[in-house]
Amino acid sequence: MEFKIKTGDLAKQKTPCLVLGVFEKHRLGAPAEAVDKACDGQLTALLKKGDMSGENGRTLLLYGLPGVAAERVLLVGCGKRKEFDRAAQRKAVTAAVNALAQLNAGEALCTLAEPLPREADRYLALRDIVVAAAARDYRYSRTKDTDKLPKVTLKRLALWVEKKAQQAEAEQAIAHGRAIGDGVALARELGNLPGNICTPSYLAEQAETLAADHPKLTTEILDEAAMAELGMGALLSVSRGSRQPAKLIVMHYRGGAEDAKPVVLVGKGLTFDAGGISLKPAAQMDEMKYDMCGGASVFGALQAACALGLPINLIGVVPASENLPDGAANKPGDIVTSMSGQTIEILNTDAEGRLILCDALTYSKRFDPELVIDLATLTGACVIALGAHASGLFTADDALAEEILGAGDRAGDRAWRMPLWDDYQPQLDSNFADMANVGGREGGAITAACFLSRFTKDYRWAHIDIAGTAWLGGKEKGGTGRPVALLTELLLTRAGVAPKAG
Ligand code: BES
Ligand code: MN
Ligand code: ZN
Repeated sequence: MEFKIKTGDLAKQKTPCLVLGVFEKHRLGAPAEAVDKACDGQLTALLKKGDMSGENGRTLLLYGLPGVAAERVLLVGCGKRKEFDRAAQRKAVTAAVNALAQLNAGEALCTLAEPLPREADRYLALRDIVVAAAARDYRYSRTKDTDKLPKVTLKRLALWVEKKAQQAEAEQAIAHGRAIGDGVALARELGNLPGNICTPSYLAEQAETLAADHPKLTTEILDEAAMAELGMGALLSVSRGSRQPAKLIVMHYRGGAEDAKPVVLVGKGLTFDAGGISLKPAAQMDEMKYDMCGGASVFGALQAACALGLPINLIGVVPASENLPDGAANKPGDIVTSMSGQTIEILNTDAEGRLILCDALTYSKRFDPELVIDLATLTGACVIALGAHASGLFTADDALAEEILGAGDRAGDRAWRMPLWDDYQPQLDSNFADMANVGGREGGAITAACFLSRFTKDYRWAHIDIAGTAWLGGKEKGGTGRPVALLTELLLTRAGVAPKAG
């Protein structure tokens, strides 16, 4: 979908469809009010008839409004005026785009950034529209006959701003929103692809494609021999039970000064998690193809950084492997030596994410990072703790926690901080190795983070568990692209790319 900006008198806008927000109790926002005036109060009259309550998500399509140049007018309920916040705006935009998809309009003009939702400036209000519209635009088609799916007929969405002076910030909102939307779509696509297509080698190819498209990005792929050379005994032990060779994907984005320390994003790229010898139950095991969504979000964020040419240095590290049962697979009780030299007793082969991540985290030290954030669909316990709404944030660094939580709030991609106290560490004690790879059922998401913390002593670090947020179950089953928006927001802020106020 393309986005552009329009300004000027709404009643005179020539567009296939003009989208106007209306609130409950017949209250109109400024754009609807202007149109109402131009058509001699026809909108008010119509609302009084009661066919459109203004309830959020309701839509009503009108044709041939007198005094209005638009071919159609789509009224979109925005709920109660007083409760119009960013979530309400997002819901209204989604309803509008859904309704527009039923039409053969091709293009529409959207005014839903006015009035501004609570807690949003104009830049955010416009950017949220772009991200929400782009999210409705994505559809999975790689392995499905798309001719049978309804065609996407909305090709262009124009965003209306009142004054020419607001054009610069609107353009920036569109550029940032599009980069986030495209990053989210990339992460969703990778998450949705089946395990027999999206293998570690496939992810490595994706990284090379991304690098080929962007001059500031280079990719290095470490194969199993290179990883063995580095002593990555934990990562390689997981891969040993699989016929697909593991890959360590390293992507360098150089947008900042040569001596500027990089932000390093480490994403779990487990392309299928059967659990290994500690085999998972059959129900919903198919969904474990999304166990590479941490890695996918690293791809998405890097793509966004490239698209925006952010003036920072950024490195993505994606340890990619399968976790399958096999004669060569890890067995409960096996002990492996990680790249850090610490030994690990594998009590449960299904706690494999931390095994591939710990070596990737040790490896990341060599970049002398400004900070390291890892993203991982790491624990079912995190799904139980926080559900699908917040990613779990773990860090001992209060300033970093604040930065990440702030980015999540602003991006509408929230995280919630969980404890990482040393009190939990003894749960990882092992009689036979430096640590066990599981800490029991209690506080399972926390002990997983505690495990990782033992490999991240040399730099500022945070861990984000996205097991509950990266995937939607049920009827709309599929990848969500989270936390690409959070990460991109963080990078935008770090890069000092502040919105241009109009
Ligand atoms: N990939 C899973 C975690 C997961 C579970 C992600 C559900 C998404 C939804 C991870 O590798 C795993 O299996 N974790 C185990 C750890 C346990 C054995 C300590 C879990 O959470 O059950
Ligand atoms: Mn597992
Ligand atoms: Zn896993």
